[in-house]
Amino acid sequence: MESAIAGVVRHLGASLKNRGLYPPTHPLVRTPVEKCRMELAPFFADRSELALTVSDGTLVLEGVPIFQLTSSLELFMARLGAIGLPAVIFERGVSVEDIELFVRFLHETKEQGLPIPQIKERLARWGVTHIRVTATEEEEKDDFTLAREIYGNALNVVVRALKDVRNGKTPDGAESDRAVREMSGMVSRNRDAMLALTLIKNFDEYTYNHSVNVSVLSLAVAETLGLAETERIAVGVAGLLHDVGKTQLALDLIRKPGTLTVEEFEEIKKHPEEGFAILGKMTHIHESTRSVVREHHMRFDRTGYPRPEPEYRMNPHSYVIAVADCYDALTTMRSYQKARTPQQALEIMRKLAGKSLDPDLVELMERSLGIYPVGTMVRLSTMEVGVVTGTPDGGKGEPKVAILFDRSGNPLATPQGVDLKESDPSSGRPRRMILGTVNPLMHPPVSISGVLQTLSG
Ligand SMILES: [Fe+2]
Ligand SMILES: [Fe+2]
Repeated sequence: MESAIAGVVRHLGASLKNRGLYPPTHPLVRTPVEKCRMELAPFFADRSELALTVSDGTLVLEGVPIFQLTSSLELFMARLGAIGLPAVIFERGVSVEDIELFVRFLHETKEQGLPIPQIKERLARWGVTHIRVTATEEEEKDDFTLAREIYGNALNVVVRALKDVRNGKTPDGAESDRAVREMSGMVSRNRDAMLALTLIKNFDEYTYNHSVNVSVLSLAVAETLGLAETERIAVGVAGLLHDVGKTQLALDLIRKPGTLTVEEFEEIKKHPEEGFAILGKMTHIHESTRSVVREHHMRFDRTGYPRPEPEYRMNPHSYVIAVADCYDALTTMRSYQKARTPQQALEIMRKLAGKSLDPDLVELMERSLGIYPVGTMVRLSTMEVGVVTGTPDGGKGEPKVAILFDRSGNPLATPQGVDLKESDPSSGRPRRMILGTVNPLMHPPVSISGVLQTLSG
């Protein structure tokens, strides 16, 4: 068995190495892949998958360490390590095409330390079906844990970036780019898990959470819009850094509750241009990201700031940030403003549509979040109170709801997921319907990602 194992990996390594030397159709690239597929076949006689992992710098196939390293094997391991792939799983049914595409992926991927969700997304897009990647050889992390890690990482990136600017340093644009790529991957993979986290509103550290939330919301809108990946990332980075220019303003001005004086407002109005200047010094920043940061308060009807000249052409993606920015600000409690529910926020935004906000995007936002966005507390016709845990079919279908409180208002021991399509056999009518939203402040705070995790577990 050991020699067969070594053979599998040796062929992979050889094909990878030869890809760097010959055209992809060359026999020296293709033949090792075919041999690899042949060597794999006997393993699947009594198992459905085969795990290849790198642990402590040693390549391990199905628990058997491979010590005889050839140069092609070393190259193979180095590529796995550089991309950030600790474990690769070959499934029964793996084809020569799967292996070939996987080798191509290893060869062509130039990014270092790619997040697993993104690797998965890329492989899926390429049509690789029977080769899986995981974070570790152990259990895969569930989406909610992963989403939380990704959110937390983006938050750290923002904190670091703003701190750098305050200290007169230029933030590392590659970090923002990477954080947004991770979030984008997670939005495509499990939008609800990622959106649920935007409900984190931290009053003291408003700017940090706000920046990450605007990025996630913009990514969700960008995806519903069907933007290409590069554009989605550019929009997401703009969301993450849209208020970076505020670091140039006095802290007590940013935190000032209530209305600003005319002079103070003139100060605030400088932050988009300041942001534009800061982004200009950063690496890995797309040109359109810069313009969007400059334009995020210009408004759809061009009445905002900095006031555009009549012939100035605005980047349409600036309107995406504007709707995300508005939605997150409205749903956040500030010292001078109570937090609106998502419905109230969307209602206000509908009134702004065509004025400060792009009407199409307001509609799209509503569609991409659903009528009852994830995290909305709802009262059902049974008088039970639940929380929306998912928005299927782009918000058009019935939302998924988990009941948290029974009809008398007593909390359930564990949230109970219910199907709103389920009907009462005696009357044929739906057993439960949503009557309306409930003010979340009337109930003890609910960790939506905790609920989601309980339901998925
Ligand atoms: Fe702003
Ligand atoms: Fe903002």
